[in-house]
Amino acid sequence: MPLKICPSLLSANPAKLGQELADVEEAGADAIHWDVMDGNFVEAITFGSQMVAAHRKLTALRFDVHLMVEDPDRHLESFATAGADVIIVHVEACNHLHRTLSRIKNLGKKSGIAFNPATCVDGVKYCADILDMVLIMSVNPGSSGQTFIESSLKKISKLRQLVPESMEICLDGGITAENIKKCVGVNSFVSGAYIFKSNNYSSAIEALRINGR
Ligand code: DX5
Ligand code: ZN
Repeated sequence: MPLKICPSLLSANPAKLGQELADVEEAGADAIHWDVMDGNFVEAITFGSQMVAAHRKLTALRFDVHLMVEDPDRHLESFATAGADVIIVHVEACNHLHRTLSRIKNLGKKSGIAFNPATCVDGVKYCADILDMVLIMSVNPGSSGQTFIESSLKKISKLRQLVPESMEICLDGGITAENIKKCVGVNSFVSGAYIFKSNNYSSAIEALRINGR
């Protein structure tokens, strides 16, 4: 599976999101990562489905919608309609995870599960057949620009034994061109601050891609 670099618009300039999206696409992004926060599961409030729908018209890039919300079932349909390609829910926010993943698949979308840094990944083997992506948080969810949590890496090799080879394993949070070198076994990387706080998006994406191989 070729490595994917997925810029998170959370770190983009919110006053010119469409332009930022076009700029990272031009710079070589493989997917756009939408960090959706509801002010409950995490403190911040960010993007709603209308934002996603408005930007859907601007690009054919894959849209990964990372739902950091309580009771994500309430929002699956609106983000599916808005044009999400992958809908990622937090295991910590789902009482009936298997059912939630089935609903995402029934909406015709790819499904993903996200794990917080202190959450065990063992349960993934019970829903691998209705799962397309596992997202490992390497920071606590809630904001961009945090420091990478090293212990997250231990989960990657464990996960590889639990899921089929074709499963996309994504790492999200605190990734830089330096620490990405240690992240073995990962198929896609989310990056917020490292890309958007750089003065050259192409060079930043290229550095992640080369060092993350
Ligand atoms: C954290 C989000 C991440 C984060 C990535 O809650 O899920 O996607 O914004 O940004 P950086 O790369 O700055 O940690
Ligand atoms: Zn995210």
